[in-house]
Amino acid sequence: MKIFSNKEQISEVVDAFKAQQLTIGFVPTMGALHKGHLALVEKALANNNRVIVSVFVNPTQFNNIEDLEKYPRTIEQDIALLESISNDVLVFVPSVEVMYEGDTTSQHFDFDGLEYEMEGKFRQGHFNGVGTVVKRLFEIVKPDNAYFGEKDFQQLQIIKRLVSKYNLPVNVVGCKIHRESNGLAMSSRNTRLTDLQKKEAPFIYKTLKTAKILFGTKSADKVSKWVVKQFENNHVLKLEYFNISEVDSLKEIKRKSKNKKYRAFIAVYAGEIRLIDNIALN
Ligand code: PAJ
Repeated sequence: MKIFSNKEQISEVVDAFKAQQLTIGFVPTMGALHKGHLALVEKALANNNRVIVSVFVNPTQFNNIEDLEKYPRTIEQDIALLESISNDVLVFVPSVEVMYEGDTTSQHFDFDGLEYEMEGKFRQGHFNGVGTVVKRLFEIVKPDNAYFGEKDFQQLQIIKRLVSKYNLPVNVVGCKIHRESNGLAMSSRNTRLTDLQKKEAPFIYKTLKTAKILFGTKSADKVSKWVVKQFENNHVLKLEYFNISEVDSLKEIKRKSKNKKYRAFIAVYAGEIRLIDNIALN
């Protein structure tokens, strides 16, 4: 397994791949890898000549310093997991200094309003941080294909917008959500849940699945009210938001219209740990 921590070394390798016309698949991550991440890497391996995975806990996308400090960092385990699926993956593990060179301010982006919905309302500046780091990573890794999970569906839509607005020569590939057998969406933050929170957390997806059924016959507003009520009766999980939104604009809807695609999005606190999930409704 080849591991790089500085830009110049990885750029040299990338340039050599480009010279040989080898395609590059890229999976950006913040580490604490789980099967959801590995599924993205497998997809990248299947569709590209070379694959680069980055592991970087990006400080500019955290609006909560405690969340940043407590974000799990398990680089040795991450490398072992990557080795368990392939020896050919290249891993880029830059430091904050390498990525930001002493200036950890985010670039300001206009994502046509996508950045102000849902996560944007509750995590000020989050998508400027994501945009800043992903754009820089794309400039270093120069991928042909980059893989992002639908677990962070809003992020996926924003990265697509980033690529189209800046004419970046990258094909963004969305990948379905990986779940535990109990339905809980896999997340690096799940390792921080207590036993009780772990037991209760599958309630999130269970509620999304019922919301999907209800959406077949009821208005978005009625479904949202029903979801709010479910969480009022739950003493372990605290609902932050539940939205039914149109997938392209991510705008919350009041009324359904034909030929539009909708998704339900949810953010929940288990103690101080924030969990998000979403489901396609039609
Ligand atoms: P991270 O949370 O580590 O996720 C890395 C990638 O894995 C993202 O594209 C995310 O959507 C995907 N992913 C996480 N859990 C998943 C699951 N259960 N099923 C499918 N895909 C899943 O997202 C980030 O890091 C960062 O914001 C990053 C893009 C790396 C920029 O810093």
